[in-house]
Amino acid sequence: MKRHTRFAVILLLVLSSLLFSTSPSHSQRPTNVEQRVDALLSQMTLAEKLGQLQQLDGESDGNFRPEHLELIRKGLLGSTLNVRGAQRTNQVQRVAMTESRLKIPVLFGFDVIHGYRTIFPIPLAEASSWDPALAERSAAVAAQEANNAGVRWTFAPMLDIARDPRWGRITEGAGEDPFLGAAFARARVRGFQGDDYGATDKVLACAKHWVAYGAAEGGRDYNTTDLSENTLREIYFPPFKAAVDAGVGTVMSSFNAINGVPATANAFTLTKVLRDEWKFDGFVVSDYTSVKELINHGLVANEEDAAAVALNAGVEMEMVSRSYNAFGPKLLQQNKLSMATIDEAVRRILRIKFRLGLFDRPYTDEAREPSSLLRPDSIRLAREIAGRSMVLLKNDRDTLPLNKNLGSIAVIGPLADDRRAPLGWWAGDGKEENTITPLAGIKAKVPAQTKVGYAKGCDVKDDSTAGFQEAINLARQSDVAIVFVGETHDMVGEAASRSTLDLPGRQLELVQAIHATGKPTVVVLVNGRPLSIGWIVNNAPAILESWMGGSQAGNAIADTLFGDVNPGGKLPVTFPRNVGQVPMYYNYMNTGRPPEVENRYTSKYLDVPWTPLFPFGYGLSYTKFTITNLQLNAPRIAANGKLTVSVEVENVGPRVGDEVVQLYVRDPVATMTRPVKELKGFQRLTLQPGEKRRVEFVLDREHLGFWDREMRFVVEPGEFRVMVGSSSAEVIEAKFEVALHEK
Ligand code: NOJ
Repeated sequence: MKRHTRFAVILLLVLSSLLFSTSPSHSQRPTNVEQRVDALLSQMTLAEKLGQLQQLDGESDGNFRPEHLELIRKGLLGSTLNVRGAQRTNQVQRVAMTESRLKIPVLFGFDVIHGYRTIFPIPLAEASSWDPALAERSAAVAAQEANNAGVRWTFAPMLDIARDPRWGRITEGAGEDPFLGAAFARARVRGFQGDDYGATDKVLACAKHWVAYGAAEGGRDYNTTDLSENTLREIYFPPFKAAVDAGVGTVMSSFNAINGVPATANAFTLTKVLRDEWKFDGFVVSDYTSVKELINHGLVANEEDAAAVALNAGVEMEMVSRSYNAFGPKLLQQNKLSMATIDEAVRRILRIKFRLGLFDRPYTDEAREPSSLLRPDSIRLAREIAGRSMVLLKNDRDTLPLNKNLGSIAVIGPLADDRRAPLGWWAGDGKEENTITPLAGIKAKVPAQTKVGYAKGCDVKDDSTAGFQEAINLARQSDVAIVFVGETHDMVGEAASRSTLDLPGRQLELVQAIHATGKPTVVVLVNGRPLSIGWIVNNAPAILESWMGGSQAGNAIADTLFGDVNPGGKLPVTFPRNVGQVPMYYNYMNTGRPPEVENRYTSKYLDVPWTPLFPFGYGLSYTKFTITNLQLNAPRIAANGKLTVSVEVENVGPRVGDEVVQLYVRDPVATMTRPVKELKGFQRLTLQPGEKRRVEFVLDREHLGFWDREMRFVVEPGEFRVMVGSSSAEVIEAKFEVALHEK
């Protein structure tokens, strides 16, 4: 080899090694990561090992607590939550990287649920778009902003299936359906993590809350759950399985007990399913003090036993309570905990820290933080997604869209100019000053000569009707009234269960008073859960579900009200008529006595119809669609075969618009009772007026099978039904057969 060629080769080798150490990718060098973990682990003392299992809480304003620095210096703290901001995280990290013995970087976690600084619609709203690609894009913006603010790990996506709208946390997930939930789970994990969560615009994701947290009895947060393994596997697990398959790096154990065993000590869910069946090789973090709470559950008598059962079951990192650290050494001595278990926990955490590139890129570029937040393209995306998340619930006589050239508009209601509600419960580092309220959005939309008046009318929560008259007068003087009612940000989310789904306070009366003026009254809902709004549905000509639409909610609402956006969202959750129907979901079992109007002795209520107010998958548009001509490519398939199903979708109305075509299946006779319908495919498409398109779905074993009595996933031969339509209640249907013998 000539001297200069040799030099070039050496240069190349040096360069490539540099390249790998500055931009590590877990898929590129797994063995290297494992070797680095082993090497580090072999040098660690027991105290340092337990330190890696500890996560502590910073201040709510994002600052760290001074005591953390001392713990980090001694190698006794591996992770924080809530500490954020490039400068602050760097300050903390510098202690770990320069003053601690082994220089293990700190992992900074934060709840970046639907945006960091640019706030996107709440996850339930995003799910209403039925467009997971949008959720991927919003998660990507959240990741980019968070990473630039020093946050490397988000406690999201929240993947809890929620069949009970009393539960306030229904707002944080994708609704009631496992198939839709799995699609959003994949998208959000991809959005947060990308191909390499060590990249400078990505964060490590956390699938939470594992598991069945959404099944809390009575919809009361933190409550116990009791579910069959079949229900767990078919309803509650699928979004988590999708997240694990998409490479999610961490999982959070939930607060609830499942069939008598708290999720934070549940070897079945944590070890058997997650580690053994799904081969998850990341780590599990407990929820906030949920290790110590095992005492309250009555599973253990004291904190040391809490530490033993949680760690032995497979919870590697303890959030906020300090039982592992306090009792680890004693438990080891008493053989209640083995060094192998501790090592495995540390190994999993270090593995993720290496994959994240934390050792190689521990600091955040402070110069980049300001310009990375609230970028114009991020704001535009927030507006687009909010628009695509709107669900039009009613629109009699084409009340909507409104004409921009109306003479006068009355904007009424406690949520018409509220800057906090649209940000939802988790608002990251979002600021009220960046919220566009509906009032601001409407003012910006209409020409200067249109008079826009505003009257609050009442508050969301209190009982005063003192503001009614002003609102009534305003409505009387205006061509149209738009009334914004719903929930405040703190009526949804954690610890925000409600025993009624009615509009809180005097809001319904406000709507009634405005309606009584005889002016056309449009009701816009700003809320984080399904509400029982029967009177409004029976009386108001138009209702728009805007959810909590994020920083750009007001602009997106105005876009929709005035027709610049044609609403195309569909409900990801059933709206019950009243709270007494709850839990109510579309994929229920048929029972031996399905409801019949004329037969009292069937499964229904005396005082309310058995049907929902709005079914799962429901949503209107300013145009009209037909779905016809359902075709199957074969009358019969093998149990492991594939079936192609297609329909023709046509825009038969006057405007360009979106339809979400939904496919459901039913296995009418099986060795276990099966749901009346299960969503197994969906596509949102945009059609010009008069445009017609054939939409195709492919069904296979995964869509047709279920968990049988012996907990095997099987496809049973016999007749199946396939239904395609515009909601779970409006479908056309065909039959096919799964052959007895596989061909
Ligand atoms: C408790 C919540 O249940 C969880 O979702 C969240 O990530 C943690 N607190 C940390 O804020």
